[in-house]
Amino acid sequence: MSELVETLKSAIRTIEDYPKPGILFRDITTLLGQPRAFRRAVDELVHPYAGDGIHKIAGMEARGFILGGAVAHQLSAGFVPIRKKGKLPHEVVSIAYSLEYGVDEMEMHKDAIQPGERVLLVDDLIATGGTAEGAVKLLKQMGAEVVAACFVIDLPDLGGRRKIEALDVPVRTLISYE
Ligand code: PRP
Ligand code: ADE
Repeated sequence: MSELVETLKSAIRTIEDYPKPGILFRDITTLLGQPRAFRRAVDELVHPYAGDGIHKIAGMEARGFILGGAVAHQLSAGFVPIRKKGKLPHEVVSIAYSLEYGVDEMEMHKDAIQPGERVLLVDDLIATGGTAEGAVKLLKQMGAEVVAACFVIDLPDLGGRRKIEALDVPVRTLISYE
């Protein structure tokens, strides 16, 4: 195991049967609470895109806000919140999506992206890829160039990476749980 994988995996907690029976929930709150592990995760998400002309980070509620906000600061980029239905106050674009343990609807402000802006999508974890797929579709609908989607955790058995790569968006993940 590499030093990076060791650092991150030892900081992430696994909870069985949350939020539903049969789900192994990968809980990053323990990583966020450890300064060295949190910094390491953010640094690793950031470094391939330093100097890459990223205008905005898009992050999905709620865990994508924490990591995405830190990445945006490091890259001196703006931040675009993609929120669950009914939380944004101005005009929105919406899309229904499904994830490992449910279905939901996500929204983004219509004026959050200017056509042609280079956007990096950030979240803590990709499982089925339903959440990231919805976010990529909203961003593209608003004319964004989605440069890449990056995540701390991949659950490869659930096929999310392929779903996002099929939209011509490269995927970067730091660790995986088979
Ligand atoms: C989690 C996670 C991702 C998504 C991944 O968010 O933070 O956004 O699920 O699942 P998928 O690849 O199957 O779509 P969740 O919807 O649980 O929201 P939270 O961050 O508010 O807990
Ligand atoms: N989002 C979707 N699947 C998840 C899992 N197994 N652990 C944490 N967040 C998730």
